[in-house]
Amino acid sequence: MPPLQITKLCLKTSANFLYRVLHTSGGMACSRYEYVKTYEKDDSILPNVWIVIRLDGKGFHKFSKIHNFEKPNDTNALSLKNTAAVTVMEEFRDIILAYGQSDEYSFVFRKETNVFNRRAAKLLSYVTSLFTSSYVLNWSYWMENKTLKYPPCFDGRIILYPSDQNLRDYLSWRQADVHINNLYNTAFWNLVLKSGLSHQEAEAELRGTFSADKNELLFTKFGINYNNIPKIFRKGTTLLRKRVKLMEKYGDDIYRTLIVPLHDDMICDKFWKEHSELLGKYKPGEYTCTTDLSRLLIKQMENLNIGDKNEQSFDSNS
Ligand code: GTP
Ligand code: MG
Repeated sequence: MPPLQITKLCLKTSANFLYRVLHTSGGMACSRYEYVKTYEKDDSILPNVWIVIRLDGKGFHKFSKIHNFEKPNDTNALSLKNTAAVTVMEEFRDIILAYGQSDEYSFVFRKETNVFNRRAAKLLSYVTSLFTSSYVLNWSYWMENKTLKYPPCFDGRIILYPSDQNLRDYLSWRQADVHINNLYNTAFWNLVLKSGLSHQEAEAELRGTFSADKNELLFTKFGINYNNIPKIFRKGTTLLRKRVKLMEKYGDDIYRTLIVPLHDDMICDKFWKEHSELLGKYKPGEYTCTTDLSRLLIKQMENLNIGDKNEQSFDSNS
């Protein structure tokens, strides 16, 4: 057969095959395998509820031990986690608040968010994987001479809250948890590291004690006034998106939308009055840097090109 005829025959055969594949279900232009898509379930989150995603480090008891975290609190490890949370907030502009303590982080999406059409699996998997990859990416920045020995991972869950009060109670619950754990851990590790008690002995000493007893023990035995311990350890870290007015240190007033770390009490009303944008019509609040910038803010500004004085725009991801 001449070459031109062979080519024509091949083309005709391929076209017939394609036609058969595409027209097998009632004349619709789709493959007969397409029906499997109907097995995917619609997991859209109902409208008008607060969406909270909480991540928690898997086996961080072991992870912190192997990587020699300072006891009871490792400032660099906390900063690393905060940096990973900033990455998530930078990506998802509809997260209005994030709160972290120990090996966990909670992210609060504004009620009206329409990101990924509120599909639960998309939201949860994206937030979890971005947080984890940023944690690994920024490891050497914060942990300097420590080698990352194995890949850390985080579990994630979505919790929905219908009312503002539910959301406040959730955050109060997580913050009360820091207080209880940190007071215990501070007493425990002082007994072990300074008094030379074994883990079992320290546990026995603290068994059945109340907060006041632990405060008293810290003060009388170790001269520690618990209220003077850095707030980041006692209160955890709350990240808020703010239009930050930077002071003359960088020339004329410059505004940047940044994620600001705070270590304030979220249980009291004062916090919610000071940051009224959170429960009101959301728009990042204003924030003036009066003291030296934290390393976390400096890191964000390095990424922003501070020489450019145009105000950074706020665009919603929704
Ligand atoms: P799962 O979450 O169930 O996988 O267990 P986990 O081992 O991660 O325990 P959990 O989440 O209940 O608690 C977190 C643990 O991480 C704490 O008990 C500490 O052992 C450890 N951890 C978190 N932050 C620090 C830190 O700054 N310093 C030290 N030394 N340990 C920390
Ligand atoms: Mg954990």
